Amino acid sequence: MFDHITVLKNEMVQSLNLPVDGIAIDCTAGGGGHTAALLDALGPGGKVFAFDRDPMAFQFLSERFAKDLATKRLVLCPNPFSEIQEVAEKYEIAGKIDGICADIGVSSPQLDLGERGFSFNKDGPLDMRMDTSSGDNAAHVINEYNEQELADIIYKFGEEPKSRFVARAIVQERSKEPITNTLRLAEIVANAIHYKTKSKKHPATKTFQALRIYVNQELEELETLCRDGFDILKPGGRIGIITFHSLEDKFVKQYFNTLGKGKKIPAHLSRAPLTEDQVAAYKDVKGKIVKPFPLIPSEEEQSENPRSRSAKLRTIEKL
Ligand SMILES: C[S@@+](CC[C@H](N)C(=O)[O-])C[C@H]1O[C@@H](n2cnc3c(N)ncnc32)[C@H](O)[C@@H]1O
Repeated sequence: MFDHITVLKNEMVQSLNLPVDGIAIDCTAGGGGHTAALLDALGPGGKVFAFDRDPMAFQFLSERFAKDLATKRLVLCPNPFSEIQEVAEKYEIAGKIDGICADIGVSSPQLDLGERGFSFNKDGPLDMRMDTSSGDNAAHVINEYNEQELADIIYKFGEEPKSRFVARAIVQERSKEPITNTLRLAEIVANAIHYKTKSKKHPATKTFQALRIYVNQELEELETLCRDGFDILKPGGRIGIITFHSLEDKFVKQYFNTLGKGKKIPAHLSRAPLTEDQVAAYKDVKGKIVKPFPLIPSEEEQSENPRSRSAKLRTIEKL
């Protein structure tokens, strides 16, 4: 079983506007909800390439889509989506893609299974790697990085205003005994912060988010996806990205704005007459933003699936 409710499923498929015999990529296949919807939208002549770097998701997808894999309508790729360009070149589909879907972040099984180490509510080893076969886990970061490095990570990727208190508490506590499990870290963070607000959020939410983003290099992955994903679309092809927190949404919004409206002319140049080359460089519009505002889940979807509440879908079409 892979218990994950797909977010903005119909909205994603509609916004990609795929031709029936087209080629689509699902960058974050997870439990396969968007993958299945893309296969349905494409019809028998279409083809989907589905990425997931989590071996557990990959195993599930291999079983769920055995038939589509056998007919080669679906190809599974165990790569991080930052390798989208290399994979597209390998399969000779670069420049031929009609739609790219990305549903950024963690799946429900990753969050809900204590042993994956993402949850501050369930005890487990401090792992947090999506790809459990490579890279340093969260325990390494928590026990080996110095106080300044920890504070910077927690501030930059968690936007935690009390990052310095949290980092100091972590360093003090680990000197007694290494911090190796999620609940101990959650308790250390909660004791360090002493929030007096009535927020229902667990005080360790931002610190756990920061560690997860850092361990999985999520922002670097997203940057590469925006750049290389857009490059391998065919003219008229679209990329739709669902994000779940402000850091990611801010990045996608700015990136799509630059593609769709050109770069902002810096203040010191804006009053001087610009040369033709300067105008061309700043007004180099490469895409059309499909909707000026992000799509968000309906009230019904939000009440059925509270995890969908912060989701935002932005889509851009290549000119
Ligand atoms: C929110 S879930 C996607 C759920 C999926 N859309 C569905 O309907 O079941 C995100 C998935 O993307 C994967 N993932 C996240 N970042 C990735 C990356 N950079 N490269 C490849 N897979 C990634 C995670 O392992 C996870 O399974």
